[in-house]
Amino acid sequence: MTNEIHPHQHSVSLEDRSSVKGHLPLVLWMTGLSGSGKSTLANALEHKLVHTYHAHTYLLDGDNIRTGLNAGLGFSEADRKENIRRVGEVARLMYNAGLIVITAFISPYRSDRDMVRSLLKPDAFWEVYVSCPIEICMERDPKGLYKKALDGKISEFTGINSAYEAPDVPEIQVDTGQLTVDECVDLIIARMLEHQILKHV
Ligand code: ADX
Repeated sequence: MTNEIHPHQHSVSLEDRSSVKGHLPLVLWMTGLSGSGKSTLANALEHKLVHTYHAHTYLLDGDNIRTGLNAGLGFSEADRKENIRRVGEVARLMYNAGLIVITAFISPYRSDRDMVRSLLKPDAFWEVYVSCPIEICMERDPKGLYKKALDGKISEFTGINSAYEAPDVPEIQVDTGQLTVDECVDLIIARMLEHQILKHV
């Protein structure tokens, strides 16, 4: 190990990178229970951002990242923290590249989400609370995981025997038990237009 690491100042700034894109960069951090609809919403949102607004985006999704970058991490508190820390760093790099980054992780701990927020400048990080009553998530149970957790076949399952700490003041809250996917997408895009992250097409 050496302490002789001296970061470079590069001549192309974030402003330079984002000026060629026609939109501002942003991290849209979705948080919510398993089955709340984070991945579905993130996917539909990215689709509209790319195909209607011609935005440069990237979607980081828990189930996908856990097979690559974060393969080997489990669901203990420490592993979830490390999962979110790494994703936060990747989101920051992508933000600095000028992208609209959408993340879809349960990210159950407030302190971890706040840590990611602190990596970015104010206004760069929007916490999107994908809220849905756990009863509905359990009914949907798209991967059969709630059933397995209730049968004692999965330990530390969020909402069953591992905590989920809902955001206190998220920038956006969408209730997927009440709204359709398209309604949730439109709500988020309206907010992005309002804040001039995107331009009207
Ligand atoms: S997080 O808590 O560390 O943010 P992440 O979003 O990456 O979780 O992964 C959640 C996905 O892993 C769930 O959608 C589910 O498919 C799967 N999974 C497997 N075991 C668990 C568990 N014990 N708790 C929650 N999700 C689990």
